[in-house]
Amino acid sequence: MRHFTSVKDLGDLQAALREAFAVKADRFAYHHLGQNKTLIMIFFNSSLRTRLSTQKAAMNLGMNVIVLDINQGAWKLETERGVIMDGDKSEHLLEAIPVIGCYCDVIGVRSFARFENKADDYEEKILSQFIQYSGRPVFSMEAATRHPLQSFADLITIEEYKKVASPKVVLTWAPHPKPLPQAVANSFAEWMNETGYEFVITHPKGYELDPRFVGKARVEYDQRKAFEGADFIYAKNWSAYTDPNYGKVINTDRAWTVDAEKMALTNNAYFMHCLPVRRNMIVTDEVIESRKSLVIPEAANREISAQVVLKKILESL
Ligand code: CP
Repeated sequence: MRHFTSVKDLGDLQAALREAFAVKADRFAYHHLGQNKTLIMIFFNSSLRTRLSTQKAAMNLGMNVIVLDINQGAWKLETERGVIMDGDKSEHLLEAIPVIGCYCDVIGVRSFARFENKADDYEEKILSQFIQYSGRPVFSMEAATRHPLQSFADLITIEEYKKVASPKVVLTWAPHPKPLPQAVANSFAEWMNETGYEFVITHPKGYELDPRFVGKARVEYDQRKAFEGADFIYAKNWSAYTDPNYGKVINTDRAWTVDAEKMALTNNAYFMHCLPVRRNMIVTDEVIESRKSLVIPEAANREISAQVVLKKILESL
């Protein structure tokens, strides 16, 4: 595997899951693969889990790791061609990317949707330029439209906890005060569509996701109805995708918060969220602290998903 930006890059998903469980059983067995190899992790946005889990995964594989926060200590970057650079941006991305490529063997990039231009976001303008100009394998650590390392960890977690072969998995929108990207929801939907699970998405009207990610999921506007019989509830906020409200918060109705009364409608479902989470907006304290909450196992599996992806890239060098 050269680049990793979506589930499609993994190839056989069942084989990738088997590899994940092999890595989890002995995460230091592949330490030789990364010897004398350097990973540079580029962050245009903040992170706790992705930063730590990806660095840990790379260290498990014997790699050297360099982390660069673009907005803290690097030159401010211009990303548009043709701009007269007489403002506060000192360096252009088109020089910065190949320079970064000189110092490493693999590059991880985190670059969220900017909500300035929907086409730029959905064409993955920043991530695509890293792939085009770095000369190195590139993997997404959450880009404008997808968060595949998170979705892979979510799938590993569901496989570990499911009690039936094809569980009912519900992705539910929940309220948040600030506009968040659609990336986690898009990506989760994309990965769930690759499984044989029963997959339902529930959200208020106006929060429809890009149909390319919704795929064959059933969309149910009644959250309570969607929860009935569910084995897994995956909560996430996202801002509006459809025009003219792209990137906007159009609803903060706390009737959509996941609480114990709604969880009681499910088939004793597990609760999932990628974190960070705003308690008592997205989910109540009671639900996230319950024994059915999988938020910590999901975060732990981020190390595994990152290690499988890095392992596959290292094997292709
Ligand atoms: N879930 C996730 O990607 O967390 P961070 O934003 O902290 O990396």
